[in-house]
Amino acid sequence: MKLGIIGAMDVEVAALKESMTAKVERTVAGSVYCEGRLEGMPAVVVQCGVGKVNAAMCVQALCDHFGVTHIVNTGVAGSLDAKLDIGDFVISREAMYHDFKCSSINPAYVVGQVPGLPVLAFPADAGLVRMAFSAANSVCPGHAHIGMVASGDQFVSNKKQKQAIIEDTGALCTEMEGAAIAHCAWRNEVPFVVIRAISDKADDSAEMDYPTFEAIAAKRCAEVTRAMAKAMADK
Ligand code: ADE
Repeated sequence: MKLGIIGAMDVEVAALKESMTAKVERTVAGSVYCEGRLEGMPAVVVQCGVGKVNAAMCVQALCDHFGVTHIVNTGVAGSLDAKLDIGDFVISREAMYHDFKCSSINPAYVVGQVPGLPVLAFPADAGLVRMAFSAANSVCPGHAHIGMVASGDQFVSNKKQKQAIIEDTGALCTEMEGAAIAHCAWRNEVPFVVIRAISDKADDSAEMDYPTFEAIAAKRCAEVTRAMAKAMADK
């Protein structure tokens, strides 16, 4: 087993890289992959950069060049559900795009539907979801939630935009990489899960809250990812 771990920003992966042992770094297509052991588990950690294309590229490289068997996406997200507060965790049951819109060519293409694909949302691996949920509950009991993650190349920071995404996807949180990672992992038949900590409420307060809570939320999420690696290593 080898775990591929992807975070968009340095703050989302720095703590993980620091706690890795037997590290070797390798650059592929401009991204630095740090391979070693995380809590005893063979792992490769990469900062992919923001957005869907950066994220998908790193999943493909993890599959092609590093032979990972499982993929975890760790990072922060905006909350789409009133029950989720800043610092809470969302574990993906599924992930989908909120900015894939082709209904003008065929009404069957609802928001999120990629023409030609048999799924609207990409299902996370049930075993990884269980492990991530249990890891999140061990880090912060009672603050982990399982549900849909909605991704797009947009930082969501107003109520109207937020409401539209809720109506289109029913997601618990929004961010900018999860569905692309899910899509690419799904096509490679590699099990994945997205783990996100809430940094803001994806509304008019997001521009203030995000810079304030980004680092705290990202570190908590990395803690969950580390706990999950430990659980996998101990299995
Ligand atoms: N990541 C963290 N907060 C976000 C937001 N409000 N929109 C998109 N990505 C995010």
